[in-house]
Amino acid sequence: MVNIGDIELGEFPLLLAPMEDVSDPPFRTLCKRYGADLMYTEFISSEGLIRDAAKSVQKLDIYDEERPIGIQIFGGEEGPMRESAEIVERTNPDILDINFGCPVKKVVCKDAGAGILKNIPKMVSLTKAIVDSTKLPVTVKTRLGWDDSSKRIVEVAERLQDVGIKAISIHGRTRVQMYKGEADWTLIGEVKNNPRITIPVFGNGDVDTPEKAVEMRSKFGVDGVMIGRAAIGYPWIFNEIKHFMATGEHLAKPSIEQRAAAAKEHLERSIKWKGETLGVLEMRRHYANYFKGVPHFKETRMALVTEMDPTALIDILKAIKTNYDEVTVRSRCRLSNVFTGMILANSPIVKTTPSTARTSAKCSSTG
Ligand SMILES: Cc1cc2nc3c(=O)[nH]c(=O)nc-3n(C[C@H](O)[C@H](O)[C@H](O)COP(=O)(O)O)c2cc1C
Repeated sequence: MVNIGDIELGEFPLLLAPMEDVSDPPFRTLCKRYGADLMYTEFISSEGLIRDAAKSVQKLDIYDEERPIGIQIFGGEEGPMRESAEIVERTNPDILDINFGCPVKKVVCKDAGAGILKNIPKMVSLTKAIVDSTKLPVTVKTRLGWDDSSKRIVEVAERLQDVGIKAISIHGRTRVQMYKGEADWTLIGEVKNNPRITIPVFGNGDVDTPEKAVEMRSKFGVDGVMIGRAAIGYPWIFNEIKHFMATGEHLAKPSIEQRAAAAKEHLERSIKWKGETLGVLEMRRHYANYFKGVPHFKETRMALVTEMDPTALIDILKAIKTNYDEVTVRSRCRLSNVFTGMILANSPIVKTTPSTARTSAKCSSTG
């Protein structure tokens, strides 16, 4: 059983990674439903929190059904970080996470995020200050090091454990790599297999299939995996991994009807939580993944990422659902591009092109 403090997370927990403008309450609801064992908020600026900046404060919103949930903060100065730890504690999450991994220039130049990997003593003292200032279990998310010549994660993990963190999540890249290349899990494995390390070690980076999760577990012995990009628009990944680990078999993929229903619910929740404009805009990054692999989807996707009217968007998503039933039946007549035709023909937004219209007509006459 993997524990963070008193929180029991099961044998091999799957974590939703903190992702800015992604890991928000609407998206987390879906990830929780489809199997995430522990979720984190997107990172929240300590400076923003203590200034009471509305955007930062809104990110503190957490709901009981999401538990266990961690709130992630970032900053390079002890005073604001301690103060924001107190603010976070008042909102009563299960865990407080420190972001020591963000590679973005405007964050690292303030010694925050991955910037602090250039100053390990400061990283350790800042962590200690936060651990000492809160009753919450503190976890850290970080990278292998600043660059190739300074991958000090084995030493860093020991020192952070010594000042009281209760778990560490490690993204297998350096700051200089940003998101390029493949994540290297070798050092994550070294941290896990260091006999001095007793806290859970979660591996992160490029896990996007059940097979990959199994491979990382068996090769590197990590206590769980954290998943980021592969969950965007595909919250089913968590249950797919669990099922595969338990049975060696793949769960059936969600039907397009389920995908459309999830995207619609996601959109509705986003609008409710963020308001119409932001809710609509921030959903755009999800659609490509919700409908990944659906043939001839380009025009519908274009409509989804350009339309601003929520009612019209919901109509498009509903049309995908309704038309799919027809398409699955009609696809038996072996027409390859029926799908586009059916969606486009009935979409309130997208104009039907002559070729797809012909295809749908042909299918309906034979269907
Ligand atoms: C859009 C986006 C936003 C991110 N925001 C955060 C963040 O707020 N805090 C953080 O610790 N990491 C953040 N990350 C990094 C992820 O948590 C994760 O470490 C990284 O994507 C590698 O995991 P993956 O290969 O499973 O995506 C972000 C990544 C993406 C793609």
